[in-house]
Amino acid sequence: DFIRYAVPVDAKEPTDSDITIKGWVRTIRKQKTLAFAQVNDGSNLGGIQCVLNFDQLDEASQAAIDQVTTGCAVQITGPLVPSQGGQQAVEVAAKTLRVVGLCPADTYPLAKKRHSLEYLRSIAHLRPRTNTIAAVARVRSQLAAAIHSFFQSQNFVYVQTPLITASDCEGAGELFRVTTLDLEQELPRLNNTDRTVDYSQDFFGKPAFLTVSGQLGGETHACALGDIYTFGPTFRAENSQTTRHLAEFHMVEPEMAFADLQTAMENAEQLLKYTVSHVLKNCQEDLTFFSSFYDKELLDRLQKLVDQPFARVSYREAIAYLQEEIAKDPSKWQYPHVEFGTDLATEHERWLAETKFESCVFVYNYPAAIKAFYMRANDEDNGETVNAMDLLVPGVGELVGGSQREERLDVLEQKLRDNNLNLDDYWWYLDLRRYGSVPHAGYGLGFERLVQYVTGIENIREAIAFPRYPGNAEF
Ligand code: 4AD
Ligand code: MG
Repeated sequence: DFIRYAVPVDAKEPTDSDITIKGWVRTIRKQKTLAFAQVNDGSNLGGIQCVLNFDQLDEASQAAIDQVTTGCAVQITGPLVPSQGGQQAVEVAAKTLRVVGLCPADTYPLAKKRHSLEYLRSIAHLRPRTNTIAAVARVRSQLAAAIHSFFQSQNFVYVQTPLITASDCEGAGELFRVTTLDLEQELPRLNNTDRTVDYSQDFFGKPAFLTVSGQLGGETHACALGDIYTFGPTFRAENSQTTRHLAEFHMVEPEMAFADLQTAMENAEQLLKYTVSHVLKNCQEDLTFFSSFYDKELLDRLQKLVDQPFARVSYREAIAYLQEEIAKDPSKWQYPHVEFGTDLATEHERWLAETKFESCVFVYNYPAAIKAFYMRANDEDNGETVNAMDLLVPGVGELVGGSQREERLDVLEQKLRDNNLNLDDYWWYLDLRRYGSVPHAGYGLGFERLVQYVTGIENIREAIAFPRYPGNAEF
């Protein structure tokens, strides 16, 4: 009884036999002997119109019509017939109607048709019943599938790296600390007096944190398996209220052995072209919806990403372009002071992608001083810059950050000291350079930023089911 018969997106043809739709009523219009219910089962954007004609319904179904309200769960059976109205090709001519779950109209938070995205965040448990959030979820799922199939087709090994770790990969100190329960404070609340737990505040006596990146663990496997990727949750305790930052997000992190920065850039470009082509093909209805309601240029922008080679510019050149542009009218910029060593702000990144290059652009060879300790020093300028790259994309800014890794033991040890990091903490990471070290490279793609880019949705908080940001850990 619980097999789900999702109505195919392109259900345009009438059927001889009955189909069954199980879903939630979006709207219901009742007349004397006729009712129209728009039912959505989550398989597509609009759902399907079901015509409830009293003459064709059995008695129990006729009685059930009274209970149908916006939001209630129903099961309707009948053939698909040509639709009388202009909205759709076919509709369900109902023979039976079962109300599976009632929905009191006076308290249902989604009873009204339109709600702001901000309001919907406060009902994150119900918002996937809206067109926008359901479409994001479907596109997100297709993106994830495409990412796996891209790497799997190239024989990358999928590795899961730990979420609880002692290291701070990015060295930015944006760590959540993991602690065990404080018994005296927490136990009465948990109402479980039998439990024996370590009293120490840290993770069984040692400091532990939620990971900011799977990279370091990924490197160990690349330096054994060749090409690997991770795809999992990462955490940043940054107290920022922007439209591009989350405290919990997902990162896709490929790592390739016997590879340099060029290989990492090529791989990132291929990955994006592959995943975007995939959704253009498989999420047409949802993407058309996003382009009509959120971003008119969306489809053109996505097609352009697939068709055009990404631009590449060195950090030094990028700074020169920015200086030239800012000099024309410094008052237009929030951060008009840009020089070698400046960490680019979003307005700079977006200008480069949207105005200067009008395409996705890799910026490479960043100053060592503003990048993480593990990036490979450039020999040409005595390590003033490192083999790092960021991919900047129109609308979002930084989508990917990556680098070639420092494979030389002595250089890496010095780098750790320069960054005031404790060499003992990185003994295993240094071992990779001690035993059979190879040039290797990789990058991290922010998955929610990709979802944001592909849907054209304004705020990253709509790109994930349950967004985590300062002050929000409900649901
Ligand atoms: O540039 P990031 O910090 O790079 C790393 O963590 C490297 N260890 C990755 C690697 O080389 N394996 O982060 C990578 C990407 C960013 O480009 C951005 O897209 C995303 O992760 N990102 C965030 N997304 C949402 N919310 C945040 N707070 C994010 N911080 C980074
Ligand atoms: Mg970065």
